[in-house]
Amino acid sequence: MICFSKEDIFLVTGASSGIGKEIALRLNSLGASVLANGRNEERLQKTKSMAAHPENFFLEARELTENIQELPLWVKNLKEKYGRLKGLISCAGVIADQPLQVLDESTGKKLFDVNYFAPVFLAKGFADRRVYASENASITFLASISAFLGEKAQTFYGASKAALIASAKTLSHELSPKVRVNCISPGPIDTEMTNRAVEIHGHSNISRCTLGIGNVKDVSALASFLVSHEARWITGQNYILDGGYI
Ligand SMILES: NC(=O)c1ccc[n+]([C@@H]2O[C@H](COP(=O)([O-])OP(=O)(O)OC[C@H]3O[C@@H](n4cnc5c(N)ncnc54)[C@H](OP(=O)(O)O)[C@@H]3O)[C@@H](O)[C@H]2O)c1
Repeated sequence: MICFSKEDIFLVTGASSGIGKEIALRLNSLGASVLANGRNEERLQKTKSMAAHPENFFLEARELTENIQELPLWVKNLKEKYGRLKGLISCAGVIADQPLQVLDESTGKKLFDVNYFAPVFLAKGFADRRVYASENASITFLASISAFLGEKAQTFYGASKAALIASAKTLSHELSPKVRVNCISPGPIDTEMTNRAVEIHGHSNISRCTLGIGNVKDVSALASFLVSHEARWITGQNYILDGGYI
């Protein structure tokens, strides 16, 4: 069985909603300390109110796209405040469906800031040898099957996730053997992000999942395994978790 101690400290971004929230709560219920990041403080408080061990659940609100260059320093300061970090689980992300004819540069840049540059600069901070834990440190990025599908209107979203997967592979080589680096690429998961996309487009391709739409717990189960000792020999991988979509 997977279990952690309160000395196992995980920084989880996107912890105010959906997948990140569920990962933060699961890790905490398995005994870990969690530094929960999001922008919306009210929603972060709500996440904490659901925590099994609220005394080991800490809120660190921050807009990740402001001063991306300074994210490594922020991560280092978190280490000074809480202790060495066992893992970074980067879940914060946004989706913006735009067909080619309405693509605009500023939407693309904003999307890449959240989905690609912020995770990479958080990883840069985590990878400082004064920051990560000596045993089984890891980085897990939430990517997406959109990196592979070529879905209509996902020129930027798919590219931002494909870029993240490519960089994760590079980082896994650069940081081995001290830090393991992996990606999870979910298909449609029942979260606000998916619901918003269905609302906007009035339809979805969820019926393509032969096992039905995914639940946030399906993702948190894999994430908690990937950051545990049981996964100590796994790095540089991208796990497609899509209920049979592809
Ligand atoms: N849901 C799916 O079907 C699906 C499928 C494949 C991949 N994914 C990926 O999985 C991840 C989580 O998705 P989700 O469905 O859980 O999304 P979600 O429910 O919309 O939650 C997104 C989270 O990201 C945070 N966030 C967004 N922009 C931010 C910024 N600039 N700075 C700091 N935090 C920011 C939000 O914080 P606030 O609450 O403060 O806004 C929120 O906690 C994303 O990377 C997404 O691309 C999702």
